[in-house]
Amino acid sequence: MAVSLLSFLLFSFFNLQVVNGIEIYSMKIDSKVTSRFAHNIITSRAVNRGNVHKEVVFDVELPKTAFITNFSMTIDGVTYPGTIKEKEVAKKQYEKAVSKGQTAGLVKASGRKTEKFTVSVNIEAASKVTFELTYEELLKRQFGKYEMFIKVKPKQLVKDFEIEVNIFEPQGITALEAEGTFITNDLQNIIKKTFSEKKGHISFKPTLDQQRTCANCSQSLLDGDFTVKYDVKRTTPDNLQIVNGYFVHFFAPTNLPNLPKNVIFIIDISGSMSGREIEQTREALLKILDDIKGDDFFNFILFGSEVHTWKETLIKATPENLDEARKFVRGIDTEGLTNLHGGIMRGIDMLNAAHEGNLVPKRSASIIIMLTDGQPNVGISNPQDIQTHVKKAIEGKYPLYNLGFGYGVDYNFLEKMALENKGLARRIYPDSDASLQLQGFYDEVSNPMLTDVELNYPENEISDLTKNSFKHFYDGSEIVVAGRFIDSNQNSLTVDVRGEGVSIDFFDLKETAKAFQEQQYIFGEYIERLWAYLTIEQLLEERIAATGEEKENLTAEALDLSLKYKFVTPLTSMVVTKPETYDNQDGIADKPIEGRDVFTVLLYLSIDGDPHFIISVPQKKDALCFNINENPGAVLNLINDPVTGITVNGELIGDKRVNSDAKIQNTYFGKLGIANKHLDLRLTVTPEKITIQNGNEKTGFTWLDSVTLQQEGLTLIINKEKSLVLKMGSGASFVIVLHQVWKKHPLHQDFLGLYALEREKLSEQTHGLLGQFFHPIDFTILEIHPGSDPKKPDATMIVKNNELTVTRGWQKDYRRDPKHGVDIPCWFVHNNGAGLIDGVHTDYIVSSLF
Ligand SMILES: *[C@@H]1O[C@H](CO)[C@@H](O)[C@H](O)[C@H]1NC(C)=O
Ligand SMILES: *[C@@H]1O[C@H](CO)[C@@H](O)[C@H](O)[C@H]1NC(C)=O
Ligand SMILES: *[C@@H]1O[C@H](CO)[C@@H](O)[C@H](O)[C@H]1NC(C)=O
Repeated sequence: MAVSLLSFLLFSFFNLQVVNGIEIYSMKIDSKVTSRFAHNIITSRAVNRGNVHKEVVFDVELPKTAFITNFSMTIDGVTYPGTIKEKEVAKKQYEKAVSKGQTAGLVKASGRKTEKFTVSVNIEAASKVTFELTYEELLKRQFGKYEMFIKVKPKQLVKDFEIEVNIFEPQGITALEAEGTFITNDLQNIIKKTFSEKKGHISFKPTLDQQRTCANCSQSLLDGDFTVKYDVKRTTPDNLQIVNGYFVHFFAPTNLPNLPKNVIFIIDISGSMSGREIEQTREALLKILDDIKGDDFFNFILFGSEVHTWKETLIKATPENLDEARKFVRGIDTEGLTNLHGGIMRGIDMLNAAHEGNLVPKRSASIIIMLTDGQPNVGISNPQDIQTHVKKAIEGKYPLYNLGFGYGVDYNFLEKMALENKGLARRIYPDSDASLQLQGFYDEVSNPMLTDVELNYPENEISDLTKNSFKHFYDGSEIVVAGRFIDSNQNSLTVDVRGEGVSIDFFDLKETAKAFQEQQYIFGEYIERLWAYLTIEQLLEERIAATGEEKENLTAEALDLSLKYKFVTPLTSMVVTKPETYDNQDGIADKPIEGRDVFTVLLYLSIDGDPHFIISVPQKKDALCFNINENPGAVLNLINDPVTGITVNGELIGDKRVNSDAKIQNTYFGKLGIANKHLDLRLTVTPEKITIQNGNEKTGFTWLDSVTLQQEGLTLIINKEKSLVLKMGSGASFVIVLHQVWKKHPLHQDFLGLYALEREKLSEQTHGLLGQFFHPIDFTILEIHPGSDPKKPDATMIVKNNELTVTRGWQKDYRRDPKHGVDIPCWFVHNNGAGLIDGVHTDYIVSSLF
């Protein structure tokens, strides 16, 4: 008793701390759907209200079918964007960063329909962080509706919480629903929903009080799925949409009768199914029998160690036969091992015989559904052999659906075998609703309308077509085909659709569409992205069943597209540039487990201290550094970009008095001048004050101010006595760090450090002592050998066709921790950077700050 009370107290205390320390004050989910293609942005803003630095965790659950396309963090006004990299490349970068202690990490876990992404970052007291995650997804039609679900779980009351969904469907919207599993009757009317013609809008914006589980409670009731469902009108020619050289075709006939179907249920009754699993299976089969239609044919095949069949052939679903089947199903019991090969081959042979003997209607759809919870271990049990036999026996005539019950199955094998035979695999989660999951799957395939559907487009006009032939078309679903025009200016297309239905030998439809005019609601190049999404999805699927060179080719193709369109797929990762974490931080660098990962590493480019210059070379995952030794009073040109008009100059100061013993005097930056010619803007920063001159207008601040200033072309944030963040015009941004020394220090005085971020926002013509390194630089290190300091080896470096002797050393990055800094290992170039910098260092001396 005492123990549980104590743990309860600890737990509450912990909870309280998290909530009190980190406040999520805003969470917005903004979703734009255009022609089924959803573009969602989740923005979460938090502030550290505590008085020490704290970890802020951003975790969201996304649909498994979605691809992340962007992720960024903004800490105290500075944005650290994500970039997509090939997974292996990103992993190496990540591991390197882990070894340097510079990471935040990602933990991923999978749920039934979702994948969880977690990113954590340490932020200082009173600091703010914004996380922004973008993902895209093609909504699939099922049971006559497109469904999008958003997992909602803010874990605390959020002052500003909002879900907003905007739908644009050129075909016209016929129904729109929105619901939340957590929504009580009181909350029902907070969901605002409107739609007319082509546009639908949903908003859900509960106040703080409405989020409470009870009056005065501090717990949030927002925890569950928020689901949006809608359907569209079936009109021609809007089924076919053409935008900017790409087309997409949505095919879903609605007024056809269903085909009779021939279903073989192949059920695993091996010993491992005993207990709840077999009970749930019986329950599901009984429900399914209620749904089987009078003109369907069916049979059951059971496999344990032996194979048993209910009837010798497929039989018609007459009321008498259904009654008999119910008795049979109630009597199903478990026995023995898993003769999967025997069961599945018996089923295929039976279906083949039924077709050959004209036992089943000519116009009908045959389906094989196999359920297993284990791995084959009797008869032929090598998965490879089973696959070969099954493929040869089915010959593409019927789709094979493999249902894997629980986690004891070899899901990979089931999936490969199903995909090879035009079906699909599904996992049945061992839970109280397992029988509903089984029925749900049956419902999806229980209403075939057409078989052997082919959608043809003129071959000489189209390239890179996605999958265009389908074994079955089921009522309530939709076939989507996309492609690219060979002539990107082409703006009309003719399509020919064929398929076999119940009353028609040949369903044959010709349709012509013209380019789509209404582009104002469309984000970006949505049809092109939809095409890329669909292509990648299909390549990844084909890859599952492929081997050897074919698999390599499919992988290469999917990787290329993932990188080009910036999708985080199983082949790519997102690398997020992020400031270093604290020295004393506990390891949060959990290694990603599987699937899609987001990594974080640090990239930097800075001048700080002596002045020492640190140049990060991301492609080498290494850094270069050098010092400039000049006299106090000298002004150095650091950055000069004639295109954006931005220049940064720095004036050197020395120590308070000259140390006569030292050969070289220490110097620091005591004054920085940042100008933007185009904006007529000049900023002067010293360790005492910050002055902005805009035309003739002058504004001054001291380092004691906490300021966020936003005006045209300029964002300035002063973090009291710490740092200053500056964003200018095109987006180039700088961080200036204030180094304060003890006021009565006999030697040193306060100085400044400069860090340049988003270097890509400056032009190609950027130069200057620091600016020249905004362009990619390559170097080679040869012959590492002992130097004069035993801890710092020397090496030969080839850079810009020069051969230099360099020394391994460390320089400090002070952005996060201005007192101690963080050591950055780098190759130190001697003699004022000679050979590394263009020209000689004195070329960079200018006459004044502006
Ligand atoms: C990713 O998000 C960041 C932050 O909103 C934005 O600046 C950037 O342009 C986005 N990148 C892409 C490729 O959309
Ligand atoms: C909520 O708290 C306020 C102030 O403490 C109190 O006056 C009120 O009665 C409380 N309401 C409920 C329902 O407990
Ligand atoms: C793989 O790609 C190469 C180069 O494009 C091609 O020559 C080869 O035939 C492809 N192999 C397969 C199995 O598709």
